[in-house]
Amino acid sequence: MNALEVVQLTVNYEKAPVLWDLSLTVPAGKLVGIIGPNGAGKSTLIKAALGLIKPISGSVAFFGSPLKKVRNRVGYVPQRESVDWDFPITVFDLVMMGRYGHLGLFRRPKAADKELVWSYLAKVGLEKYASRQISQLSGGQQQRAFIARALIQEADLYFMDEPFVGIDMTSCELILDLLKSLREEGKTIFIVHHDLDSVPSIFDWAILLNMYLIGCGEIGDVFTPELIRRTYGKEEQLLDQVAKLSQEKTSGYPSL
Ligand SMILES: Nc1ncnc2c1ncn2[C@@H]1O[C@H](COP(=O)(O)OP(=O)(O)OP(=O)(O)O)[C@@H](O)[C@H]1O
Ligand SMILES: [Mg+2]
Repeated sequence: MNALEVVQLTVNYEKAPVLWDLSLTVPAGKLVGIIGPNGAGKSTLIKAALGLIKPISGSVAFFGSPLKKVRNRVGYVPQRESVDWDFPITVFDLVMMGRYGHLGLFRRPKAADKELVWSYLAKVGLEKYASRQISQLSGGQQQRAFIARALIQEADLYFMDEPFVGIDMTSCELILDLLKSLREEGKTIFIVHHDLDSVPSIFDWAILLNMYLIGCGEIGDVFTPELIRRTYGKEEQLLDQVAKLSQEKTSGYPSL
């Protein structure tokens, strides 16, 4: 079964196309790099998949179902810039928020949920900061707190938007090991990642994106010099390409 299936997804912001006719499938159990330059639409793809942005067309399915049927199985670590770090909440409570989907209405966290919060705080090395306000953490600690909040949800699929920004090498390796062990359990993890050198050693699957889909598949098949060059190509060339695709589409040729 596919963990994610996107069919002909097109997203506009104020009429300007940001994602163009994206179709892709990703099988379960992969660690997937979402790769592309600034402004390529990586965060937009994640937000559209999570229903945070309404696409103008297309559909997204997780494990063969629309998001509303599998919401608890899908977790999210937003990009740093989109988080209100001044929000008054302790690290412990932030991580507990990740359990809310499991707690359900009217059920207060039990001792077992609190234990779980401690264990996830330990996994990201934040135990001693549990009672701190998130505004009083360093950037890397804040990021780790958000990762713990997502992981405690024990979802089957995660989107992590640049989770390693501001995180030191040791913590980064710790979290990567954690994510790799989740993959061994069959979970699917999407990570927006900018460091191209480390892509082949981290990921087994990649989505190459720049307004339109340039490649989606096994690392060895899509993380090639030619596709990387096309992903990071000049904006004018991309616009030409989008124009060409749109012409082909309207004239009935198969799209790339
Ligand atoms: N709320 C918005 N309103 C209008 N345009 C937007 C909005 N959010 C993003 N955009 C534009 O959409 C395009 C894609 O943005 P997106 O944030 O998806 O890029 P990205 O690939 O995540 O980039 P980065 O690597 O910088 O995070 C950009 O050109 C951006 O300026
Ligand atoms: Mg982004």
